[in-house]
Amino acid sequence: MPLSTVLKTPLTGEYTQPTGLWINNEWVEGVDKKTFEVINPATEEVICSVSEATEKDVDIAVKAARKAFNGVWKTTTPQQRGIYLTNLADLIEKNSDLLAAVESLDNGKSISMARGDVKAVAGCIRYYGGWADKIEGKTIDIDPQSFHYTRQEPIGVCGQIIPWNFPLLMLAWKIGPALATGNTIVMKTAEQTPLSALVFANLVKEAGFPAGVLNIISGLGKVAGAAIASHMDIDKVAFTGSTPVGRAIMKAAASSNLKKVTLELGGKSPNIVFDDADIEQAISWVNFGIYYNHGQCCCAGSRVYVQEGIYDKFIAAFKKRAEENHVGDPFDEKTFQGPQVSQLQYDRIMSYIEHGKESGATVLTGGGRHGDKGYFIQPTIFSDVTADMKIMKEEIFGPVAAIAKFKTEEEVVHLANDSAYGLAAAIHTGDLNTAIRVSNSLHAGTVWVNSYNLLHHQLPFGGYKESGIGRELGEAALANYTQTKSVAIRLGGALF
Ligand code: NAI
Ligand code: MG
Repeated sequence: MPLSTVLKTPLTGEYTQPTGLWINNEWVEGVDKKTFEVINPATEEVICSVSEATEKDVDIAVKAARKAFNGVWKTTTPQQRGIYLTNLADLIEKNSDLLAAVESLDNGKSISMARGDVKAVAGCIRYYGGWADKIEGKTIDIDPQSFHYTRQEPIGVCGQIIPWNFPLLMLAWKIGPALATGNTIVMKTAEQTPLSALVFANLVKEAGFPAGVLNIISGLGKVAGAAIASHMDIDKVAFTGSTPVGRAIMKAAASSNLKKVTLELGGKSPNIVFDDADIEQAISWVNFGIYYNHGQCCCAGSRVYVQEGIYDKFIAAFKKRAEENHVGDPFDEKTFQGPQVSQLQYDRIMSYIEHGKESGATVLTGGGRHGDKGYFIQPTIFSDVTADMKIMKEEIFGPVAAIAKFKTEEEVVHLANDSAYGLAAAIHTGDLNTAIRVSNSLHAGTVWVNSYNLLHHQLPFGGYKESGIGRELGEAALANYTQTKSVAIRLGGALF
């Protein structure tokens, strides 16, 4: 199979799309020469085929990463690691139109959102470039006869498995802190969206990273993903995706070499609107909270609780707002919502919508397919949803909001926390005391007040409860990729 193909996007025209596996700073075919097809979710047509990594290719990539970890990367200074990351950020910015266009083509997200993602990718990589030479230990004064210090050492070879909802951004969140702290990487992208990461891979070598430091492979979860999770020479696995797969990865890590595990999993995040909220603003944030990225967000504000005093007014205005969201061609600048990523996700979401209808919730708007081609779903709102309904409990991962009415703060805090998940939450109120009191009471890794989805690479992100283990972004993510070594030096004299 050729290692690249010429493709076209409406934004950039023709470009060369790499299709191989990126191992040791080179494009290679898989050992078994397997491939899989990549689909455009807006048209349901095949875009191209890419190499599929099997266990054998994971092994080859791990060997390359191990060699780099023990060799060239160990002797690279922290400052130089930072320079490579900064070079990479510059190249991402230089190639931002192409990266955004490929992201839209493969994932179906609107071009305006893809541009936002790419900007955040460059920001994240630049930020971690700044951290590379600021990874410091401590000296600890214990007694005059000895000298003690700690070092924050890299963990080693990291396996990173990412999902399809933010293909480039999830890659950036994972590689930034891992590379800044001196680890090497075998990254597996999601089988639904491999293309943008392959375009990105070319920039890795151009930025100056030595061979083997960052390997990027396309492959299936059950094959290449599972091989990473159970590999005996991978020291750490970082995963973003569904909770069931997160559990499987943790089990595989436990029964192989007890590799370190960090997980960023699902959510069913509450979005709470109090009577005293600025209703216009609240509607716009609730709309953005659930429909951003077509509802395919781990932190989507999918449970909307509205206080009884404004409930009727709120739902009428929210319905109007949702119906104004432009659904359509991802490359149309006006588009807010593109297609869902795959037939499978489309079917899953539609079955939740059917379930909502059967369980007696009211369809305020939407509830069906949009158009006749592509995996498009109408922005959907269910009102009168009760706590026991599946659409209020389970992650739908699509453009579907479930709304319920509440009376008191105490009641809504109980409802909000009554979930196995704890990724994010939001509160809309004009009262500072309510904002702080309720934020403190919510079991969630992130709480937004009078806003939603305001993520930033300087701010840690991650889950309470079954939403995950560890934190990504900010200084907190560095802890996922370092281990502390304590060194004790005796300054002379025997103890006994
Ligand atoms: P998934 O969890 O199966 O896929 C995420 C990644 O894990 C992909 O790279 C996949 O290849 C890999 N993977 C799958 N099985 C694996 C295994 N046994 N071992 C190692 N790696 C494996 O998610 P999927 O099926 O694409 O989506 C299903 C649901 O998961 C969604 O409807 C949504 O609820 C949730 N999800 C949550 C995400 C988040 O950001 N937290 C992202 C994607 C999905
Ligand atoms: Mg695709």
